[in-house]
Amino acid sequence: MDNLLLTIDQYKTEINNFTASDTETAETFRIKYLGAKGLIKELMGEMKNVAQENKKSFGQVMNEFKVFAEAKYEALKAATTNNGKAASDEIDLSLPADPLPVGSRHPISLVRNRIVAIFQRLGFAVAEGPEIEYDWHYFTALNLPENHPARDMQDTFYINQNPDWLLRTHTSSVQVREMEKGKLPIRIICPGRVYRNETISARAHCFFHQVEGLYIAENVSFADLKQTLYFFVQEMFGKEVKIRFRPSYFPFTEPSAEMDISCLICGGTGCNVCKHTGWVEILGCGMVHPNLLDNCGIDSNKYTGFAFGMGVERITMLKYQIKDLRLFSENDVRFLKQFTSAI
Ligand code: DAH
Repeated sequence: MDNLLLTIDQYKTEINNFTASDTETAETFRIKYLGAKGLIKELMGEMKNVAQENKKSFGQVMNEFKVFAEAKYEALKAATTNNGKAASDEIDLSLPADPLPVGSRHPISLVRNRIVAIFQRLGFAVAEGPEIEYDWHYFTALNLPENHPARDMQDTFYINQNPDWLLRTHTSSVQVREMEKGKLPIRIICPGRVYRNETISARAHCFFHQVEGLYIAENVSFADLKQTLYFFVQEMFGKEVKIRFRPSYFPFTEPSAEMDISCLICGGTGCNVCKHTGWVEILGCGMVHPNLLDNCGIDSNKYTGFAFGMGVERITMLKYQIKDLRLFSENDVRFLKQFTSAI
C-alpha cells in the first residue's frame, strides 16, 4: 500500500510537469493516464492486492488521483484547442449573438412608395400596365398618329419579332388602358419601369422609373392640377418648397406645362445643381387633350382631365442629393445600405 502511494505521488509530479502544445500530445496524455488501458485503470487493478482495512483509503486516494489527472487533461485540451486561451475566456454565454445582416429597401422603392402614399391620400388608386406595349396605347391613342413628327421625340426600343410591339419609354400608355375601360371618373397613378435608347451616363440610363397621374371627371380644371401637384411637392419635399409652371409641349396634353420646384440645395439662390437658376424641373403635365378622350370613347364635351408624369430617379436624386444615376442599378451594398425605410 505504501509503495503504491509513493508511486502515485511520483505520477502526480510527472503529470504536473506534462506539457502539450498540440491536440495530439494532449490525446497521448489521455491515453497514457486515463485510457481504457491507461495507468489509472492499471492502478485500480491493484485494489485486489490491497489489504481489506486499507481498501477504503486506497479507493479515496485513487479517486482523487483520477480527478487530478482529468483536470490536467481538460487544461491541456483547452490550451491546445483554443490557441492557448483558457476555455473560460473563449465562450461568454452572456454576449449578444452576432447580428444577422438585414437588407434595406432600394431608395427607388422607398420614394416610389412615398409618392404613391401621398396620392392615395388624395383618393388616387394605383393602376399598372405592361412594359412591352402596343403601338396603339403608346403612340396612336396618345395623339401621336403614324408619321407624326413627335414620334421622333422618343428614343424607343422596338421589338424585332413584331413591329407593333415596343418597350414603353413612359408610363403615359397606362392612361390609355385605363380610359378604355370606360369607368368614370378616373383618378389613378401608375408607377412603373420605362426604357429609353440612351447612352448610360451619370444623368441618363436605358431604364428608369416613372409615376404617371391621371384625373378625369366633369369640370376638372388646371387649378385642380396645380393644387394637386402643390400638395404633392409640399408633402414630399417640405412646406417651404415653391413650385412654378412653364409652358411646354406634349402631344397628349393641351395646354402642357413643365413644373419646377425651388432648388432644395440652395433654397432658390442659385447653385450648381439648379444651374444657378434657383429652380429644378421635376415633371411634365397638362390638361388631357380632347383627342385622347375621343380616342378612348370618352365624351370630351362632358369630361375634362389632367395628367402628369414624373421620373422617380429624379425625385430620389433631389431628395437624397445623389449625383449619379448609375448608382441605382449597380447594386453596391455600400450605397444601398444607407437608406432606411423612414422617409
Ligand atoms: N410622358 C412624359 C415623359 O415621359 C411625361 C408627361 C408629360 C406625362 C405630360 C404626362 C403629361 O401625363 O401630361 O416625359
